[in-house]
Amino acid sequence: MKEKLQRINLHKVPNHIAIIMDGNGRWAKGKGMQRVFGHKNALTAIRESADTASELGVKYLTLYAFSTENWNRPKLEVDALMSLLVNTLKKELPEFQRKNVKINAIGNLTSLPKNAQKVLTKVINETQDNTKITLTFALSYGSREEIVNAIKNISKKVVNNNLDIEKIDEKIINNHLYTFNLPDVDFMIRTSGEQRISNFLLWQMAYAELYFTDVLWPDFRKEHLFDAIIDYQNRERRFGKTSEQIETDE
Ligand code: IPE
Ligand code: IPE
Ligand code: MG
Repeated sequence: MKEKLQRINLHKVPNHIAIIMDGNGRWAKGKGMQRVFGHKNALTAIRESADTASELGVKYLTLYAFSTENWNRPKLEVDALMSLLVNTLKKELPEFQRKNVKINAIGNLTSLPKNAQKVLTKVINETQDNTKITLTFALSYGSREEIVNAIKNISKKVVNNNLDIEKIDEKIINNHLYTFNLPDVDFMIRTSGEQRISNFLLWQMAYAELYFTDVLWPDFRKEHLFDAIIDYQNRERRFGKTSEQIETDE
């Protein structure tokens, strides 16, 4: 493990990592348990990823915890996920403070149960001055829903003569997304072997490096994040330029 850490260039860690935490259900099934058992065992992976990212100097970690499409799951599972969210946030608040973690949330948050909204607001408010890392939970999040919401809000401003249509640019669109206070995603990790985006941060991942691992989310540990970051650091991010240009830029 120490060896892996030594292979990481601490000056080149991704600034913003986004993770699609997938595979909880299959992990539980593999153990002959109910799906919810997998969700409960996801918490260690969340804690360990956040701690490791923070130690490495990653400034933003965004976790896909519940999608707009996940509302279509059986009610029992949705209810269990929501109470897990409420209980975890309550329980972890002192730890977020101790570790200087700023909590943030993106998604259609008003569709969450009232008690979840309440605890979320409390945790966000109380951690707002923390500076080590921003940990964002995507909850009832769907990228298309987010874009629809942004278009509505921008259109309202245009109709009310608060915004000139010619002034609409990428920055304005950015400022109307749920991620208005976050930088672009540099690195996206998805666990469980699925190789798709599932309506996550479509706009924000325009130039992200993508990484897929077969590890199921509840098994995801420090060493797996190290492996992912080592892989990221072996890539060349060209942003449309040539390799030669990138070398002279450095
Ligand atoms: C990810 O694990 C967690 C959520 C989507 C809430 P899954 O519950 O999707 O697990 P699999 O994909 O069925 O194994
Ligand atoms: C994506 O996982 C959403 C979260 C991780 C919260 P899913 O397991 O719901 O994705 P699909 O539907 O299989 O693509
Ligand atoms: Mg899944």
